[in-house]
Amino acid sequence: MNLDVQGMLKVFDAIGETMAAHKEYLTELDSAIGDADHGINMNRGFHKVHDKLSAGSYTDLGALFKDVGMTLMGNVGGASGPLYGTFFMRMSTKLAGRQDVDTVSLADAMEEGLKGIVALGKAQLQDKTMVDALTPAVEALKKASDNGVDLCGALEAGVAAAQSGMESTIPLVARKGRASYLGERSAGHQDPGATSIYLILSTILRSVKESS
Ligand SMILES: Nc1ncnc2c1ncn2[C@@H]1O[C@H](COP(=O)(O)OP(=O)(O)O)[C@@H](O)[C@H]1O
Ligand SMILES: [Mg+2]
Repeated sequence: MNLDVQGMLKVFDAIGETMAAHKEYLTELDSAIGDADHGINMNRGFHKVHDKLSAGSYTDLGALFKDVGMTLMGNVGGASGPLYGTFFMRMSTKLAGRQDVDTVSLADAMEEGLKGIVALGKAQLQDKTMVDALTPAVEALKKASDNGVDLCGALEAGVAAAQSGMESTIPLVARKGRASYLGERSAGHQDPGATSIYLILSTILRSVKESS
């Protein structure tokens, strides 16, 4: 099944609930290698996204994703606000005029979003950032897209890839963001941003399963 505008609004509501439920967890991860605000940032951002989306009326996914990106950009400080803001804004350029997404269009839009994150943050794989979870997830989605896998199957593969990407950040020494100030001492901790990527993708999967 495809995700339409109504389905996507439910996805963002669900992401808001996930961020509220994991606020302490993400903040705890960020307290080990950052400044203990990632959960607060993500929760605030997606709370504002919820307010913005419930006040709007959307006929296409481009406009919806643009509002998500702009809201995160405008309301979330730190590194993650501009990075997540850019991610959804860049996705919106691929979703303009679309009433729904299938595996092909979602994979394509997420690939574009990832390019935006990399262009802005300049992180490479194994720098211990959100890129370490998002890159394998996008690769899995692209592969599923090439193989004609449905949205649910594609997201299952994407979530599994994001999970191992997230876990792969544990032994890494951070080379980008605040955690890089710690040098070797950043090793042994899971990256908060890689974790929020995993949480977002698994929430999208759960929403798609619930509505199919
Ligand atoms: N240059 C970067 N590229 C990609 N992701 C980054 C970069 N810098 C930081 N991050 C991500 O942002 C997360 C931290 O987000 P957050 O705590 O909300 O912002 P801040 O680090 O400004 O306090 C990190 O765990 C990492 O995944
Ligand atoms: Mg922080």
